[in-house]
Amino acid sequence: MIHPVLLCGGSGTRLWPLSRKSFPKQFTRLIGEESLFQASARRLSGEGFAAPLVITGSDYRFIVTEQLQAAGVDPGTVLIEPEGRNTAPAVLAAALHLAQTDPSALMLVAPSDHVVPDAAAFRAAVRAGETAARAGRIVTFGIRPTRAETGYGWLELTGPAADGVPVDLARFVEKPKRDAAEAMLASGNFLWNAGIFLFTAGTMIDAFATHAPGLLPPVRAAVDAARPDLGFLRLEETAWKGAEAISIDYAVMERAGNLVAVPFGAGWSDLGGWDAVATEMAADARGNALGGNAVAIDCDNTLLRAEDGDVELVGIGLKDIIAIATGDAVLVADRSRAQDVKRAVEVLQAKG
Ligand code: GDD
Ligand code: MG
Repeated sequence: MIHPVLLCGGSGTRLWPLSRKSFPKQFTRLIGEESLFQASARRLSGEGFAAPLVITGSDYRFIVTEQLQAAGVDPGTVLIEPEGRNTAPAVLAAALHLAQTDPSALMLVAPSDHVVPDAAAFRAAVRAGETAARAGRIVTFGIRPTRAETGYGWLELTGPAADGVPVDLARFVEKPKRDAAEAMLASGNFLWNAGIFLFTAGTMIDAFATHAPGLLPPVRAAVDAARPDLGFLRLEETAWKGAEAISIDYAVMERAGNLVAVPFGAGWSDLGGWDAVATEMAADARGNALGGNAVAIDCDNTLLRAEDGDVELVGIGLKDIIAIATGDAVLVADRSRAQDVKRAVEVLQAKG
């Protein structure tokens, strides 16, 4: 049995105006009929998977249960963080919670905002990592890099990368500088870290004890004093706030020596911006990706989305343009500037 642990805490500002603080991108229908969160939960359900453990903020707890029910996935347990402390405390809390009943419980930690079109291939990759994880290794999932991406973790392989065949890692490099990323891409010896991890609860608790021992006392106290609240499990606030805010990648992965990667070649995107969303959508003959009531007249390579049923969006003679209209906001941007959308959110927040 594998316990899916769904991390559900990000705010996704690069996908404004669809993604909002009150309703972040993982809950929106960016691609297909389901939200990314629903698709993630469903991908990790069925034979061999326990009901999920979802870790999220208080504001999102009802959206989580509503969306799981609508997707027909058993809601399992929802752990509520009194505030976001990044992924290391969240992963440790999940491990300590599961270890209360079974320290050898196998956990699959996954973000809830990625697109993995081939769920069956993904489950096969997970099964390929099971033996290593049960033997005390931390299993990562590796994607063949296509650019010198500085926003990802990079996995250095000790041998050839064949899909579905676990390979030992020499090291894990989180969010490298540009020149280091270029060198890793050129070497051909690295994969991108998909941000998905498989290990036993006991392995992860031991890894924290060795590599980030300062997190153990506050997180353990928050888990031990967690209290049931309307069907949710709320981590104890005072102890939780004493935990350092740091990602699992920096706290554990960069320091651990027992890492393995399962190369995965069947398609993965972390939808890091509107450009990535456009790539995942079906496009017309001239490369226009259209969503909702959007119409392209004589346009090339645009992304036009009307997110509100009452809004009509028409582009005429556009090239390489992103236009997203919701009920109360419109974004128009050059496609090459997709990563700068987070600046819109900063500017609007400063304006108040
Ligand atoms: N519950 C909870 N609490 N979830 C959180 C928190 C938190 O405080 N912070 C982040 N998350 C969730 C996000 O919603 C996302 O689903 C996941 O954890 C990963 O966090 P990101 O902030 O999106 O990380 P990243 O994209 O910068 O980097 C990670 O993912 C890359 C692949 O997309 C790293 O693992 C990289 O190494 C990796 O390449
Ligand atoms: Mg991410």
